[in-house]
Amino acid sequence: MEPRDDTGAEREAGDAAPRSSTPPSGPSRETTSAPAEAERAAAPEPAAEPAPAAEGPAVAAAADSPDTTRRVDTAEAARGDAAQPRHPGFDPRVGAGPTGRVAGPPAVPATGERAPVAGRFTTPGRGAGAPAAGPGTYDLSSAQLLRPSKRPPQTGWRRALFVGTGGLVNPGESTSDAARRELIARVNQPLHGCYKIAMLSLKGGVGKTTMTTTLGSTFASLRGDRVIAVDANPDRGTLSQKIPLETTATVRHLLRDANRVRRYSDVRAYTSQGPSRLEILASEQDPAVSEAFSEVDYRRTVTLLEHFYNVVLTDCGTGLMHSAMKGVLDVADSLLIVSSASIDGARSASATLDWLDAHGYRDLVSRSVAVINYVRRSSGNVDLDRVADHFAARCRAVVRMPFDPHLEEGAEIELEKLSSRTRSALLELAATVADDFGRAGSRVRRPVIPR
Ligand SMILES: Nc1ncnc2c1ncn2[C@@H]1O[C@H](COP(=O)(O)OP(=O)(O)OP(=O)(O)O)[C@@H](O)[C@H]1O
Ligand SMILES: [Mg+2]
Repeated sequence: MEPRDDTGAEREAGDAAPRSSTPPSGPSRETTSAPAEAERAAAPEPAAEPAPAAEGPAVAAAADSPDTTRRVDTAEAARGDAAQPRHPGFDPRVGAGPTGRVAGPPAVPATGERAPVAGRFTTPGRGAGAPAAGPGTYDLSSAQLLRPSKRPPQTGWRRALFVGTGGLVNPGESTSDAARRELIARVNQPLHGCYKIAMLSLKGGVGKTTMTTTLGSTFASLRGDRVIAVDANPDRGTLSQKIPLETTATVRHLLRDANRVRRYSDVRAYTSQGPSRLEILASEQDPAVSEAFSEVDYRRTVTLLEHFYNVVLTDCGTGLMHSAMKGVLDVADSLLIVSSASIDGARSASATLDWLDAHGYRDLVSRSVAVINYVRRSSGNVDLDRVADHFAARCRAVVRMPFDPHLEEGAEIELEKLSSRTRSALLELAATVADDFGRAGSRVRRPVIPR
């Protein structure tokens, strides 16, 4: 098998180059309510340019309505400059510092050097008396040379005014447009290696498969790299029903032919790809066969896939004891704990966390994201703020997924058919998950015990 081509050389023409962006932020949380999303664009926007690093991911849930969580960025966001480059003269070739902050030129020039005078052409000569060339002296970056201009608005009356005047009147982008752009930048955080995330809940019908498909589709549609979802449900998984099927091949066939898989196009023959570019590797539909999908089978599958894909999502069944589950938990970088917006759903999700804590997966619990999924229109009298608080205390973040008529159909999922609130919640969820991308592969792996 060929090693993964992180440079993109092996990627197919449609695959964009990896995005460059600042690394994920730190672990703190804060709670706030969600922004109004009504005026957001119907069509997904192209990925924005990289966002700057922000201190503390500050993502959590708490809103009266089944609304999305809202990232509260740091002091930087509070100043309103979160979307601006941290260092105007940043040179990407310099790279990032050890803490993940972008290494840019120092604010104060080194001793003996004179800072270039802002607003003038101060490129000094090399002759006697000229100041030594310091960082920024010869800076011809776009950030230095381009006059600041307002971004064109993407939605609402601002967009109408901008388009109606042929671009002559630019009211600038709205706060919700700016927030959306920042979320997209977070979704596009750089990912070195392969990030594996498993959807888990002890209760059935809470939306694990739906979350696998919608989250995977969100990543696939916004990121330039490859995203695949694997069906590890032992009981006739429904993941393959969520996108149009291109092949009847399953994970069994892939494992059978694993020795012949050399290139991406080889593995692609066993997957189906949806309109978002998300690929799905189906499971056997005969429960007698899928039940036999073992821990070793799962590990082999992921070992194969991680050569070709950057994000691998695993849709699990309800049982924590089924054959492949140990492999799923040992290999995962993080979990999505899915709860329905009901008391029994929340109890089952909480019991899932208890079980994981008690069985040596405490690290995984602390890295997991809880999703409160509104599989029904109403949650009755259930105080979901308290449910969200419960999960916020145990997990890295909590996101609420609103009820969506298109998801209720239970058929193939198309992001374009989701309500703008659902798409905003998915963007928030994807950004929250992506905040952990910098730690891909950092968990201590447990050894395989062949059975
Ligand atoms: N946010 C939502 N809004 C409306 N309906 C939803 C939502 N999420 C899921 N559903 C619906 O709830 C049902 C169960 O969802 P899904 O199959 O994803 O659950 P699951 O946890 O994977 O179930 P299982 O344990 O049986 O595999 C499906 O009919 C799905 O369409
Ligand atoms: Mg399912």
